[in-house]
Amino acid sequence: MKALLIKGGRLFDPASRVDAVGDLLIQGDRIAAVGSVERVGEEQVIEAAGLFVLPGLMDIHVHLREPGQEHKETIASGTRAAAAGGFALVACEPNTSPPRDTAARVREVLEIAARRAAVRVLPKCAITRGQQGEKVTDFAALRAAGAVAASDDGFAVADAGVMREAMAAAKRVRLPLTVHVDGPEMVERDIGLAAELDWRVHFSHVSLAEEVELIAGARDRGLRVSGEATPHHLSLCAEEAPEGDANFRVNPPLRSARDRAALRQGLADGVISVIASDHAPHSAEDKAQPYDQARPGVIGLETTVGVIWGELIRSGLVALETVVKATTSGPAEVLGIEAPALREGAMGDVALVDPECDWVVDPEQFQSKARNCPFAGRKLRGKAVATIVGGRVVMREDEIMELGAAA
Ligand code: DOR
Repeated sequence: MKALLIKGGRLFDPASRVDAVGDLLIQGDRIAAVGSVERVGEEQVIEAAGLFVLPGLMDIHVHLREPGQEHKETIASGTRAAAAGGFALVACEPNTSPPRDTAARVREVLEIAARRAAVRVLPKCAITRGQQGEKVTDFAALRAAGAVAASDDGFAVADAGVMREAMAAAKRVRLPLTVHVDGPEMVERDIGLAAELDWRVHFSHVSLAEEVELIAGARDRGLRVSGEATPHHLSLCAEEAPEGDANFRVNPPLRSARDRAALRQGLADGVISVIASDHAPHSAEDKAQPYDQARPGVIGLETTVGVIWGELIRSGLVALETVVKATTSGPAEVLGIEAPALREGAMGDVALVDPECDWVVDPEQFQSKARNCPFAGRKLRGKAVATIVGGRVVMREDEIMELGAAA
């Protein structure tokens, strides 16, 4: 593989305190030099003047639907969508059919990803068998097979006793729990368990002001508790959503403008340390139902950068630094994995973002198989224009270059 030289971009990595116009050299799968790099030979060169050069973006809440619902999304199509959106790594939820509750099913995802994925794929496993909320899965075996976190996403674990057992088991094998938030009561309960058992808990798709407050309070007490918000909850609200449009139906639902403001503030304050799309592909038939019967979920991998850049950063609501951390070092910390970074020796995962690119969201152009996007027709400014995974350019100007670049 040729070395890759990215020239003259704005290198921006707040976790490594990098913010300067310069060059980046990737040799093999690692970053070899940051700063001013002269061409030495046969490197592949990307001219990046006017572009942000960021650590490879991570989305730790993605539904890939394989196995079982490949008509909605596959590991190949979902990771192509990730590459198109600037993401070098996704962690995928276990609510497939069947749910990912055994070591063999974790391995199956990794095997498919190694052959067909455009970006790195890290599988999550279920907290309970069959996601039934009753019997905790075998975390030791799942962890050994490659699961990076446990989640019953789609459902909260309703039984407090089961959740206590899950948290104790997770602590024994140091497996992060990323839990489906279902209202302040559940957040409060799981904060209590995190305090009692001295283990970490990460709350997915936080959406209510009260949930943000509870997480902030727990963090103030020194508990290892973190929160995640989606681009749709950060940018949309119930009052502004078109009535009866199933592409706005999501779980948790879009909340009030007050909740949205609290979520944005939580992100700005670091209470919410992760932005993740909860990319949830559904078929046209699933959505072409009376609103209450339509499947909840929206896709997001290909719009996250434009939405957060255009709606949050440009409008001054959240600092660029905060958003970059929430899609790079923040999620890496939650999973306890190596963070992508712009420094010598770091993994060669990079995203190039054009902050001035104006575009109109057209789901027909998506790499995802699904079209259930609430941002269709919206004008955005800011777009990922290249995705590099382990030194390989997997997306450049909307073109997906190669597959099989999995973890
Ligand atoms: O809207 C949602 N869709 N929320 C979830 O928690 C699950 C997801 C899905 O799998 O479709």
